[in-house]
Amino acid sequence: MPVNLVVGIQWGDEGKGRIVDYLCAGAHIAARFGGGANAGHTVIVGDKTYKLRIVPSGVVTGVESCIIGPGTVVNPESFLAEIAALNAAGIDTSRVWVSDLAQLILPYHIELDRAGERARGKDAIGTTGNGIGPAYGDRVARCGIRAGDLRDLAYCRSIVESRAAALAPIGIEVDSGEIMLWLERFAPRMLRHVCDTVSMLHEALRAGKRVLVEGAQGSMLDVTFGTYPFVTSSVTVAGGAGAGLGFGPTCVESVMGVVKAYTTRVGGGPFPTELTGETGERLRSIGREFGVVTGRARRCGWLDLAMLRYAARVNGVTEIALTKLDVLDGFDEIEVCVSYSGTSNASVPFQIAGDAQPQYHTLSGWSAPTTDVRSFDQLPSAARAYIEFIERECGLPITLVSVGPERRQIIERGVRALAAPARA
Ligand code: GDP
Ligand code: IMO
Ligand code: MG
Repeated sequence: MPVNLVVGIQWGDEGKGRIVDYLCAGAHIAARFGGGANAGHTVIVGDKTYKLRIVPSGVVTGVESCIIGPGTVVNPESFLAEIAALNAAGIDTSRVWVSDLAQLILPYHIELDRAGERARGKDAIGTTGNGIGPAYGDRVARCGIRAGDLRDLAYCRSIVESRAAALAPIGIEVDSGEIMLWLERFAPRMLRHVCDTVSMLHEALRAGKRVLVEGAQGSMLDVTFGTYPFVTSSVTVAGGAGAGLGFGPTCVESVMGVVKAYTTRVGGGPFPTELTGETGERLRSIGREFGVVTGRARRCGWLDLAMLRYAARVNGVTEIALTKLDVLDGFDEIEVCVSYSGTSNASVPFQIAGDAQPQYHTLSGWSAPTTDVRSFDQLPSAARAYIEFIERECGLPITLVSVGPERRQIIERGVRALAAPARA
């Protein structure tokens, strides 16, 4: 069954959007299984830059359909703003479908998110402020509204009124009349994109069509497997794809883990290989490490192989796409964390959150620019050695290497499971 997964296996912003855009040339359907507009995925084609938040990045290449799955959380207002921006950029958005089972983010989720952060004070998670956690909270507490519920605004009103009654005692004033006006304003346009995506997906699979599933966030932000509580509120690892879209594990052909050639993280939480001095600043400025959604400066550090080996296992990664190799051009030496020492805890997330002291292996850097290189053999030998070192340490092949943000700045390497024949 031709489902191929692409997931970030660090702390997000690995370059998933650009890899998905590249691979979607061979896919019929692009699908998102979790998260919401907390994601910011960048696709650059020629001199055009597209910033996707909830719409799958495959929309840029023109796949037949883009699915925003049952496992996602969707804010009608920001979804429609994203659709409008894509329309203005000349992209056909009539192919974008939101599952009728997807949860809606309402204004009070955003308020609750911000209030929660304020209450945490210096221990704030540093959320994107999009209401993600409270919307997922309502889903499991069984008091959320789903996209398909927009067909019945009287039902939505009853839910909103009961949420307003429950939130008032904790000081969150919800004006249910105002929320209903907001929903009534967006419902008709939103409903044009709402459908039964589970049937759509399975009809496509039965017809032998290729589905490329785009992960959001990264494994270390997974609500269970990440650096809890400094995580997002959804399942970000590959195992969540089926549960977030409605297919079984037997459909999956491959899992590509996207890895940035160094590490970044936005928001709070532990980060063993973080570089707070000049080198971190250098990575940030060359790598333009500022959030797509919030514009926040991303924290930067060396690659962490101890964490990557863990994430690769948890996801069942079959191959790696290494991004932003060019950002390391010009460094005399590159350090890579190969293990942690001094840790009293066994599991990697607890090690990371505890007293992990990264043990580094130092590799030679390279001075020649890699941005115009299009084949592995033409890379500087130290860059090839860096790639081969990561492969050996992770026990996985690196089948794509990106050397710039533009669609063509990519090196293909070896045989990829995802090397789907270009779609007809
Ligand atoms: P995503 O959330 O995983 O899709 O990643 P983001 O789009 O948030 O962040 C990745 C950033 O790196 C974007 O600004 C991309 O344009 C940029 N980028 C992606 N691949 C490369 C690369 O190989 N080299 C450079 N220099 N930039 C890249
Ligand atoms: P993409 O898909 C990087 C982080 C936030 C915060 C934590 C919780 O672009 O890689 P949330 O708003 O989800 O409750 O915030 O998760 N975070 C991301 N960091 N990339 C992302 O998405 C992220 N989505 C959430 O910064 O630390
Ligand atoms: Mg991003």
